[in-house]
Amino acid sequence: MELSLEDSAKRAAGYAAVDRFVRDDTCIGLGTGTTAYWAVQRVGEVVARGRKVRAVATSVATEQQCGDLGIPLIALGDEPLDVAIDGADEAAPDRSLIKGGGGALFREKAVAIAARTFVAIVTERKLVPQLGAFPLPVEVVPFSARYVAREIEAFGAAVRVRSHGAAAFVSDNGNVILDCAFHAIPEPDGLDARLRGLHGVVATGLFVGIASHVLVGNADGSITGF
Ligand code: A5P
Repeated sequence: MELSLEDSAKRAAGYAAVDRFVRDDTCIGLGTGTTAYWAVQRVGEVVARGRKVRAVATSVATEQQCGDLGIPLIALGDEPLDVAIDGADEAAPDRSLIKGGGGALFREKAVAIAARTFVAIVTERKLVPQLGAFPLPVEVVPFSARYVAREIEAFGAAVRVRSHGAAAFVSDNGNVILDCAFHAIPEPDGLDARLRGLHGVVATGLFVGIASHVLVGNADGSITGF
């Protein structure tokens, strides 16, 4: 199947992350989404060739992909995580990220924080001078969703409860996602702390000070990074 230029770039980023960071006999975190998909495929290839890795998956979808590829799964906390690899919706020059466009932000952040090294894999489209054009996903306990939405609106964002067809989107943890359009987030760390201070917020999609590498894939297979 012919890949689009964007998908070729995602594949380049996913493959490069695995080739550069996944060593034999290690424990890895595997992300969620259309870029992380390619990293998981590459891990499947190296496992089939005999490399021994154990993986923590960040979503039910990634668990299923790992199962299909014969990648052994463990639970978060079973072993120290050497490296985690995941996509992002936005990446700023200081390697702060917005994640959660696919709704897996809580488990993605749990895995990224636990890993010794966290590698974000993106295409050029995801690079921004400042975070915030992409609506920030915030995972919220359903009971508190309307209350938290109002509080976040008071911070200056337009808030939308993410839907899935006619119903609300439900995360793998049974929660809802609020997509919060701030348009510009000049102080991601401060906003993350304010949001996490709201009772009912489970996790935000702001990943600040977590990624040690951002790999940018290009359609010709080349990689840049920062
Ligand atoms: C999943 O919840 C997200 O955090 C993804 O990692 C992010 O949305 C990037 O997804 P794509 O690689 O599909 O753009």
